[in-house]
Amino acid sequence: MDMFTYHDVLAHLGVGGAHPGGLALTKELLKDLPIKQTSHILDAGCGTGQTAAFLAKTYGCQVTALDQHPLMVERARERFAREKVTIQLVEGDMENSTLAKESFDFIIAESVTVFTNVTKTAREYIRLLRIGGMLLDLEMTAGVAFSADEVGDFQELYGLREIPIAEDWRSIFRNAGFHSVEIVKEHTVAHLLEGQSLQKDAFELQELNPLEPLDPSLYQIWDKHQRLTERFSNQLKYVVYKAEK
Ligand SMILES: C[S@@+](CC[C@H](N)C(=O)[O-])C[C@H]1O[C@@H](n2cnc3c(N)ncnc32)[C@H](O)[C@@H]1O
Repeated sequence: MDMFTYHDVLAHLGVGGAHPGGLALTKELLKDLPIKQTSHILDAGCGTGQTAAFLAKTYGCQVTALDQHPLMVERARERFAREKVTIQLVEGDMENSTLAKESFDFIIAESVTVFTNVTKTAREYIRLLRIGGMLLDLEMTAGVAFSADEVGDFQELYGLREIPIAEDWRSIFRNAGFHSVEIVKEHTVAHLLEGQSLQKDAFELQELNPLEPLDPSLYQIWDKHQRLTERFSNQLKYVVYKAEK
């Protein structure tokens, strides 16, 4: 059993934009959302807060950022102070938050929901959104259903319970109460790796801010992550779902 979790690694390395495509993809996706200065947006599982800070600076709207990892929250707090943005920052569980119901126009989740109990989190998104509110969620998605053994490898490394195929993700959102669920973008990990062959990683590591000294076992987990990513590069996809309440 590893001493650290995968999310500890991301937090210790201080990865900003810890989702495939990074901030560049985030910017592209946000362009299609009707965000106004009066909008209230939740960055669900905000990590180091890169997207939340970008939202506040770009739209001047009200932003709330939530993450359950204390070090991520600390790093997000530092970023918001450094970038001089006012953002409500909450340490909490996205499956069951203390945020007020029907208080958000948009929820952005970037590689977060898959690490949670997806059914509970999808219901929580519905509870938090106003009628007509929108969820934009970029999630790890199985290209074809994985065997129990294969899912086991992902469970061990990421602590996740399942990797749904796209149709299952759509059902999860629909069953939670979303009335339209669209796929706005999808790509295989192989495609992502191709574009980033020098880095050999599915992440666009444009921002790193490591805590020194780094415990060597963190590298081992990072290495496992890279090997698993490469092994499943043709079967694993990242899909962006847009769903409306
Ligand atoms: C892969 S990182 C992505 C972080 C950020 N969205 C980004 O793109 O940089 C996943 C994040 O989800 C957070 N997370 C995982 N499970 C969570 C839960 N149940 N509630 C809140 N946050 C959670 C982790 O702590 C981590 O910061």
